[in-house]
Amino acid sequence: MLTVTVNGVERDAPRGERSLLSYLRFDLGLTGTKYGCGEGLCGACTVLVDGQPLRSCMTTVGAVAGGSVTTIEGVSSGNTLESLHPVQRAFVQEQAMQCGYCIPGFVMSTIGLLNREAHPSVGQIREALAEHMCRCGTYQRIEQAVERAARGDE
Ligand code: FES
Repeated sequence: MLTVTVNGVERDAPRGERSLLSYLRFDLGLTGTKYGCGEGLCGACTVLVDGQPLRSCMTTVGAVAGGSVTTIEGVSSGNTLESLHPVQRAFVQEQAMQCGYCIPGFVMSTIGLLNREAHPSVGQIREALAEHMCRCGTYQRIEQAVERAARGDE
């Protein structure tokens, strides 16, 4: 057995070619990480591994053994607006979602971006989120939410 730390808890994980997305959703019940395309193209399955965004559909569990995985369930301390991660709160405040299916992936990539660059330019935001797809088309509000999170507005 391999071990992987998920949202701060060390877990046993299977060897082999099992995808990280499948492991998170079906073994651990962390369904906030979404299945979209399954081909690394849409970003819905994005999680953080050691603080940086990764497509969990294209990553085996073994590839992250010994690492620290954070899913959308691991970024807030509760369900109230005040207990959300500042990036989640900014997405709510900017109403940057319609159906919401893609939003966990956008949030995780935004947290990864702000981990690398506290005050990203518009170009850096667009580059970081370029390979995320939102079928509702809320890209402008998503960009505003990222800018709001970077400013630290409450
Ligand atoms: Fe992984 Fe689309 S489901 S990138």
